[in-house]
Amino acid sequence: MKEEQLNELFYSLTLEEKIYQLVQLSGDFYKTAAVAVGPKGKLGISQEVVDNAGSILNIIGAEQIIKIQKNYLENSRHKIPLLFMADIIYGYKTIFPIPLALGCTWNPDLIRECCIKIAEESAVSGAHVTFAPMADLVRDPRWGRVMESTGEDTYLNTLFTSAMVKGFQGDFTADKSIASCVKHFAAYGASEAGREYNTVDMSERRLRQDYLPSYKTAVDSGCEMVMTSFNIVDGIPATGNKWLMKDVLRDEWGFEGVIITDYAAIQELIAHGVASNDREATKLSIEAGVDIDMKTSCYSNNLRQLIDDGEIKKELIDESCLRVLKLKNKLGLFENPYRGASIEKEKEVLCCAENIKLARKVSAESLVLLQNNNVLPISKKNKKIALIGPYGDNTSIIGLWAIHGDQSDVTTLKDAIAEKIDANNFCYAKGCELLEDYTFLGDFGKMVNGGETSDTNPEQDLEEAISVAMESDVVILALGEHMMQSGEAGSRTNITIPKIQLDLLDKIRELGKKIVLVIFSGRPLVLTNVLDKVDGIIQAWFPGTEGGHALADVLFGDVNPSGRLTMSFPYSVGQVPVYYNEFNTGRPVKTSTHSERFMSKFLDCPNDPLFSFGYGLSYTTYEYSDLVVSKDILKVGEIMEAKVSITNKGKIKGTETVQLYIRDFVGSVVRPVKELKGFKKVTLAPGQSKQVVFYIGEEQLMFFTKNLEYKSEKGEFMVFIGGNSNNTLEMKFTFI
Ligand code: GLC
Repeated sequence: MKEEQLNELFYSLTLEEKIYQLVQLSGDFYKTAAVAVGPKGKLGISQEVVDNAGSILNIIGAEQIIKIQKNYLENSRHKIPLLFMADIIYGYKTIFPIPLALGCTWNPDLIRECCIKIAEESAVSGAHVTFAPMADLVRDPRWGRVMESTGEDTYLNTLFTSAMVKGFQGDFTADKSIASCVKHFAAYGASEAGREYNTVDMSERRLRQDYLPSYKTAVDSGCEMVMTSFNIVDGIPATGNKWLMKDVLRDEWGFEGVIITDYAAIQELIAHGVASNDREATKLSIEAGVDIDMKTSCYSNNLRQLIDDGEIKKELIDESCLRVLKLKNKLGLFENPYRGASIEKEKEVLCCAENIKLARKVSAESLVLLQNNNVLPISKKNKKIALIGPYGDNTSIIGLWAIHGDQSDVTTLKDAIAEKIDANNFCYAKGCELLEDYTFLGDFGKMVNGGETSDTNPEQDLEEAISVAMESDVVILALGEHMMQSGEAGSRTNITIPKIQLDLLDKIRELGKKIVLVIFSGRPLVLTNVLDKVDGIIQAWFPGTEGGHALADVLFGDVNPSGRLTMSFPYSVGQVPVYYNEFNTGRPVKTSTHSERFMSKFLDCPNDPLFSFGYGLSYTTYEYSDLVVSKDILKVGEIMEAKVSITNKGKIKGTETVQLYIRDFVGSVVRPVKELKGFKKVTLAPGQSKQVVFYIGEEQLMFFTKNLEYKSEKGEFMVFIGGNSNNTLEMKFTFI
């Protein structure tokens, strides 16, 4: 629709009709013609609101969406189509690895390709908007939602966030793309103690330096929507925070798209204690510039009265309604309310061979080899292999946020191994349940197949596992956290492998067999007490529909693992938060002149994590040498080269992620001991050497200074280049 037509439509709307465009309801209001009083009654809204709401969340599927849209438009006075939005975070039907795994590919271009495929599957299934990417920086593995993030580094997160937005949105072709909604704005990942929905409190400097850039990159990449976070920012919940939503997002960053709340977040302003009732909560949100009220009756039941009482300006409603109409128009919904929805195309596209092949490749690239004491890769021949553990034949490896995926599409590790090796050389036994106790699952337990069975027989399970292991040369142990112990509302204080599984590991270990541990989790687990009990460890995350195939490819050497961690694995949960780009403190352990006791350290735990940011092993080894910088003195406006040679010292081709870090020794504020400023993936044949060149200029040296200005400062710097943040070559230079 042309702009003047859109304006005409807009001016033809009553105030009520404009308000209805700002309401988002869940699909249960629309699934049946005769909407039960249930959801309406519970939410306290009228049928008129249901008949005129602007958007729906988490209804998807071409047939269903076409039916709902058709029914809706038949009753719509102005024929304004519904917007269909959904949580399609890392896959619709082809489920890719969780974002924390995607980050470990260090391959934004590849992830953009995934998002292009995800967008196509979603568009032909009728979705218009996805509530992704989740761009929250994370430093606390106790928080269940670290699984949705690409990790602890701001720079890396910006690259992935941009790639995801561009992948999802493409050129807005109806059956190829969907609008993206970056979330959760802002800094939800800094929830205190990693406790879900908890307080966030930090300096504006830290907010701007570490947490905001990934959201800003999404906006700069053209992201159409922003979702408010549940948490407070400087004492005011994001959903009612005018400084964050208007001063920063709209005025500073120029965001002109739609702001939507997180689930029922407007009403939570009351619990937070910045509003006494729905009416006050409504006022705070609309004045903050929040456009869509997800799943409460605040906007529908209070906006009109607030205008009539002269408490808010009508223009606020006009602006929000117009932004929603513009998004619908940009998606082409006025010309075609069904956009890309096609029952026929769904059959062609969903889980098509191309997407499945890509999922297998990406999943393999996201796996991280954490330990290998000459046990991997496993020979496909002449080896008797036992696969043991509750994740050996488990389809819940798609993770918590694959809410529209089908576990029936998953190839389990057992099935994938069976495709690779002779059945006579392969046995499987579950060994034990995933958990000792499933009551934490509550009602969710019935919703998800987390691998639990009702007819468990622990003694028999263990007996079977031991006999299978006894017959083997090598045991693959598939262990991990329950997928519902991860994701939203999945915060944990004990982040080890469940005890029932550790007991199984101890029993198998007594047999003296070689053990390869494959870990399924949505977070870094504490593995400190596991390292010396096994010979190899692969961190599998929740690897998605093709996770079984990808793991089998890596376990048997068809793929040489290249994943590198984007979130530190703590030595102990007591260390948390532990992250690579920390500040030096006034008493750094490595250089302080104070006596041993009086330094910045713990009495009972090292400062370093068990596995560092950027860490990951390969089936070969790489040697770094000859780091040189083209200038000892870098002047403003100049570019300096930092070169290093890297050699494959092994017998297998491999891909290494060469990482560039910088340290600014002295600033007007303290600066991290290291900051990732670049990386390059290089593939090397056995014995091959390559030179990798990075370019460094003023841009890489900028930060939020004492006066919160984003600029560089002169002084001494260090360049670090290596295979992970804890193992680098270094060279000094001066910036003047
Ligand atoms: C949830 C999540 C958010 C999701 C939204 C809609 O509570 O916080 O990430 O997109 O609700 O399901």
